[in-house]
Amino acid sequence: MKVFEKNGHAVVWGDAIEALANYVPDGFVDLVFADPPYNIGKNFNGRKDRWPSDEAYLTWCYQWLDLCIQKLKPHGSLYVMTATQNMPYFDTFLRDRLVILSRIVWAYDSSGVQARKYFGSLYEPILFCVKDKGKYTFNAEDIMVEARTGATRKLIDYRKPTPTVYNSTKVPGNVWNIPRVRYRMDEYEKHPTQKPTTLLDRIIRASSNPGDVVLDPFSGTFTTSAVAQSLDRASVGIEIEEEYMKIGLRRLGIKDSYNGELLRREPRTYERQDAAAQQQLALFEKRGSYGT
Ligand SMILES: C[S@@+](CC[C@H](N)C(=O)[O-])C[C@H]1O[C@@H](n2cnc3c(N)ncnc32)[C@H](O)[C@@H]1O
Repeated sequence: MKVFEKNGHAVVWGDAIEALANYVPDGFVDLVFADPPYNIGKNFNGRKDRWPSDEAYLTWCYQWLDLCIQKLKPHGSLYVMTATQNMPYFDTFLRDRLVILSRIVWAYDSSGVQARKYFGSLYEPILFCVKDKGKYTFNAEDIMVEARTGATRKLIDYRKPTPTVYNSTKVPGNVWNIPRVRYRMDEYEKHPTQKPTTLLDRIIRASSNPGDVVLDPFSGTFTTSAVAQSLDRASVGIEIEEEYMKIGLRRLGIKDSYNGELLRREPRTYERQDAAAQQQLALFEKRGSYGT
């Protein structure tokens, strides 16, 4: 395990269970966002997201879930994701230990055909849990969204003693329509399951305050830490793959280079093509000016 720290942000390169047990103090964290491998066969830089059985996967998950709970402050919150088929097990495990306040559906559209002989999956579930349902952070005012009835249709509620225009904003419900990260988006990083900053922005704004500590035990591209930083929270991000850990070092501004390698965002194919075209143009111009 290796830790890189700067200005309240820690990038931990290592195994989640080991880092949670040995690096993060108990009762230290205000908010956990955990987006583990789902046991569905993704390829994380060569590391196969596949356990020998469902039982083996769940046994592993229960270990780090218990540790996350141990690391949370008494008034802390935990958001956790997994594949739709595993979520019922997470749900029954967690409801004995925490209070589940919301079962969120992160819904997105697909640009292509998902399935031809069944209904393709276009959502991922997220559980929102708290340690103490009598006292927890929920900054409703910071995450309001448009309420269409009031904002767009400008309807009036005539059932009230004095007819009143419907509210134009509301707290989001538990179905979140947020597009997945696409290749051409600025935030895109080379990772198979990068989560959108918009998703983490809502979670971090709602369930933490400036100065709070946000923990992500499976950081991937370090979306959680990057959003925490942009919102003036502190962060601890753990990631086992060195390639992804380097993304964290760069995204958080902890290091510009690593082992002699300049850390930079991978150029998109079209950016490379643009650069090649620019070079070609420069060459033509040079040749033209020399009359060759
Ligand atoms: C679903 S991805 C997380 C994506 C992340 N939320 C993002 O926005 O980029 C899960 C990550 O867990 C990492 N991982 C797998 N096993 C791990 C372990 N034992 N300890 C820490 N990280 C692990 C994988 O390399 C992968 O990057």
